[in-house]
Amino acid sequence: MLEIHKSKYLDFLSKFGVGGAHPGGIALTKELLRAEHIKSTSQILDVGCGTGQTAAFLASQYKAAVTGIDRNSIMVAKAQNRMKKRHLPVTIIEASIEDIPLRNEQFDLIISESVLSFVNKSKALDEIYRLLKNGGRFIAIEFTINQLLDEKSTKEIEQFYGFDTLLMKKDWVALLNNAGFQTIRIRKNQSLSSTPEFQHSQNIEPELYEVMEQHIDMNLKYDGILDYRIYSCTK
Ligand SMILES: C[S@@+](CC[C@H](N)C(=O)[O-])C[C@H]1O[C@@H](n2cnc3c(N)ncnc32)[C@H](O)[C@@H]1O
Repeated sequence: MLEIHKSKYLDFLSKFGVGGAHPGGIALTKELLRAEHIKSTSQILDVGCGTGQTAAFLASQYKAAVTGIDRNSIMVAKAQNRMKKRHLPVTIIEASIEDIPLRNEQFDLIISESVLSFVNKSKALDEIYRLLKNGGRFIAIEFTINQLLDEKSTKEIEQFYGFDTLLMKKDWVALLNNAGFQTIRIRKNQSLSSTPEFQHSQNIEPELYEVMEQHIDMNLKYDGILDYRIYSCTK
């Protein structure tokens, strides 16, 4: 049985089947992937793949061998449904990023889009490092705070999203370094955004209809503080 942290936000994303549920959405993903020299022989893993929008793009655009994992069974079902409908040979596995049931050093590229913030980051990064081939690349788009917040605000954000902890840029870099990653690059692309897509479940709890608005309010309240960065690095 997988451990599920309580997050109304993640419940909302899964029941509404939000695709591209990361800052910059699929437009940012496409831009980042363009720089990665992906070939049809590339082995790629999308950790915390959600409804599988990025994994499907990788398989259709680059014909790469793509695997997606997510620990939320609703997300997994929606991702599998997407691949079936589009006849894409993408493997979707229900598993936690903290303990991935795949063998060492099999991927050329691993991507995590707004996932690490929700999990035990050291465990997850150790797993990602283990699964990458030597010379393999890791890209993460992750929430990053621009300044330290008081305890009340920190709790408010962590509880709403179900974040493990809130990190600044230097904290992410330290974690990546500790896991063994090299040539860590950090950037931000504010100009890109895309409209999220939805794959609604049949039964959606009424309280989840308010979560989207709460998410927007939270972003307005912490505008300029609750931010994101793109971290890319090499094993
Ligand atoms: C903000 S969503 C992003 C989904 C997807 N990457 C995207 O950009 O659309 C976070 C995803 O991480 C997944 N997740 C959270 N904790 C996880 C864990 N321990 N292992 C694997 N996936 C996890 C959630 O189920 C959710 O699908």
